[in-house]
Amino acid sequence: MSKLPDPDQTRRSFLKFLAGSPLFAAMPFQDDYVIKNPAEAINVLEFEAAARKALPPAHWGYLSTGTDDDATIRANREGFSHYQLRTRRLVNTTNIDMSVDLFGTKWETPIVLAPSGTLFHPEGATAVARAAQTQKTLQILGGVQEQTHHIDEVMKARGGPVWYQLYASQNMDMTLQTVKRIESAGCPVLVWTVDILGGRNLETAQRLRRLDTRQCMSCHDRDPQVRPGQAGRNTLTWDTLRRLKDATRMKVLVKGIESPEDADLCVQSGADGVIVSNHGGRSTESGRATIDSLPEVIQVVRNRIPVLVDGGFRRGTDVFKALALGARAICIGRPYMWGVAAFGTPGVETVLAILRREFNLVMAQCGKHSIAEITPASIVHAGR
Ligand SMILES: Cc1cc2nc3c(=O)[nH]c(=O)nc-3n(C[C@H](O)[C@H](O)[C@H](O)COP(=O)(O)O)c2cc1C
Repeated sequence: MSKLPDPDQTRRSFLKFLAGSPLFAAMPFQDDYVIKNPAEAINVLEFEAAARKALPPAHWGYLSTGTDDDATIRANREGFSHYQLRTRRLVNTTNIDMSVDLFGTKWETPIVLAPSGTLFHPEGATAVARAAQTQKTLQILGGVQEQTHHIDEVMKARGGPVWYQLYASQNMDMTLQTVKRIESAGCPVLVWTVDILGGRNLETAQRLRRLDTRQCMSCHDRDPQVRPGQAGRNTLTWDTLRRLKDATRMKVLVKGIESPEDADLCVQSGADGVIVSNHGGRSTESGRATIDSLPEVIQVVRNRIPVLVDGGFRRGTDVFKALALGARAICIGRPYMWGVAAFGTPGVETVLAILRREFNLVMAQCGKHSIAEITPASIVHAGR
């Protein structure tokens, strides 16, 4: 007697046939679908492929690179899975207030635009500033970016002050001139980035640069070639922080802090705040997520100054977890950089709108009406 065909086997064969068929490849629901405009985006991660498509290899390499094996980029994302949400039910969440206060200014959400030296858009920081204005979002202007888009121009596009990120020069007089200039422009907060003073090794950027056949010097006025990392000859110390503080009325934040010892030294040296950051996995290949560094920093700072954090924030739940661990606000880097590279101002606007919607949703699901209600008891450390 002939055997009847196994229905599971038949279904598997049919699916296998479908997967290999050109018809299947043309269907819009395949995993590698690339959004064509911001309105199509379901989440901020979808802007990554759009930016990759829009940019030539060298630029994409610089935007996406981490250091060495990019392990710290991956750690930043994986770190969020170490924390889980404690949901709450049957809470009336008609009114949810996501606002935070940062140095006397109220912002509608705790989501901040991290500084970038390069924005891969002709209008650079001004394109981002226009989105920051419509989305009522705090923008930190990268000091390197300010060389092409002056702070006055960016503040005009923003319709209000932006914070300024400083790479202090080894020549203190030059640094102090910049600080004075920025202060006179009306900037309220200076963010001093300290995490690449020791040098860094951006390998993905080097690899993708090799694939780019264009002549860099036809657009850049100096050779932007990323070279193998060398140890930096740094002379800047905690004394530099004290000198910066003495030289300005602006608030001074230190960006790039990961260890509690350094956080404590920030407080002792007069910093007004710290940003827990590993430069988006672009400084030291520590392998450690910033979300995992945050609790130790919060513990030692003991509420004396605000602690912000960045690195791998892609979801409203990520924002919630960081706030539950004690961060005052969080910064996003690549998501808005993908947005501006692919679609200009509307790209950044949509990235911010999506994160705001997701954060609002998770606050509702966890029964929170305000940021103050998000506490360590709102999450559990996985495995505990
Ligand atoms: C292309 C690129 C350029 C950056 N340039 C700067 C910079 O000039 N100054 C700075 O302090 N941080 C810079 N950063 C780091 C960001 O401010 C931020 O710390 C990081 O992007 C956060 O991680 P995320 O990209 O995973 O969100 C840069 C990051 C990227 C991806």
